[in-house]
Amino acid sequence: MFLNSCHSYELGKELSNAGIPHVLCIKDRVRDDIASIFTRAFYLALSTGRCIKDSFIIGRQAVRADPGVPKMEEMKFILFSKDHTEVLWNFSAFARSTDSNTILPEQLSYHGEHEKYMGKLNLLPLLTKHFIGRRVEIFNTILNLRRRKIVVISASKRFHKKRHRGVGKTQLAIAVAHRVFSRSITKDGVIFVGVDGVRNFIDFEKLLHKQLRDHGINAVPGLTQALRNLNILLVIDGVDCVSMENPRKFKEFIECIINETQDVHVLMTRHTPFDNDFSNSNEIVHQHIGGLKSDHDAARLFINRSSSLSISEITRVMHSPLFETLDNHPRKIEMAASQIQSPLNPHDLH
Ligand SMILES: Nc1ncnc2c1ncn2[C@@H]1O[C@H](COP(=O)(O)OP(=O)(O)OP(=O)(O)O)[C@@H](O)[C@H]1O
Ligand SMILES: [Mg+2]
Repeated sequence: MFLNSCHSYELGKELSNAGIPHVLCIKDRVRDDIASIFTRAFYLALSTGRCIKDSFIIGRQAVRADPGVPKMEEMKFILFSKDHTEVLWNFSAFARSTDSNTILPEQLSYHGEHEKYMGKLNLLPLLTKHFIGRRVEIFNTILNLRRRKIVVISASKRFHKKRHRGVGKTQLAIAVAHRVFSRSITKDGVIFVGVDGVRNFIDFEKLLHKQLRDHGINAVPGLTQALRNLNILLVIDGVDCVSMENPRKFKEFIECIINETQDVHVLMTRHTPFDNDFSNSNEIVHQHIGGLKSDHDAARLFINRSSSLSISEITRVMHSPLFETLDNHPRKIEMAASQIQSPLNPHDLH
């Protein structure tokens, strides 16, 4: 039973005590738009074979991930349940793992087995373990992809130098790919092609063709013909080299996607933004990302990646000048966490 109205907590508790197996209710007041964010995500998850607890967590996450919602609002949604793992709509073709005992909200990342979803095989790369933050960036990227055909994720200006590589572009692209895939935002799925380090345009095309083939799309005679009538998200990760070495061909490729396909959306990552102009450039959005948004997220990543330090040592590192120089930059944090060993050497902290 879903008591989808403000101040339904006390009633929900009573109904649960009276024997109703699953009661969802709301503590205090909740805005209508927030209730509807939760409801949409919750029922979508239930209807695709998730158990009640997972669907509830997904509903709360959707509320938390929405940039227009104040902090902690998701905690107002309460579930009283006798058996959280019960699946209400268990369509076998849609069913997903319901090993929910181990799932905590923060762990509901995509680091797990490749899975089947809505009958389609998820061939996307896995997110890093303990993926942190980036909620606003994920949201904005999906919004931009809905509005435009091409989105390019680059590092923000202060991180353009080579030594600042690793700001998290690939991880963000993977997170977006999973989100679009799991919510079936594009009808014909999501294809991820990693081209980092590929210089030659022919090799680039070969990789694209291979990924398309793996998804059952035959790109012969031509890529754009094959994609023409599909509604698909193509994620092309790390186009730096190929686009720099073959600027003209790369430009033609992008313009073909824009002009000759109807509903293909491309998400690209490139460390620095493109400097050449594309015709039809109103179909291209440039997004820039910096380090992790909050110091809290940076600290979580550091704690997660450091294995030998004690809690008091971690605290010392986090209050040191060194930690400030890491700039919430994920790869720098990971490197520092793996290099700083116990016992702490005070020289390492400057
Ligand atoms: N949001 C995140 N949560 C946890 N770890 C992250 C996050 N973003 C990045 N990382 C970690 O930081 C490292 C660098 O991330 P990533 O490969 O996405 O950066 P990049 O910008 O694509 O780098 P490059 O410029 O080399 O392509 C990875 O090892 C990844 O595990
Ligand atoms: Mg990358």
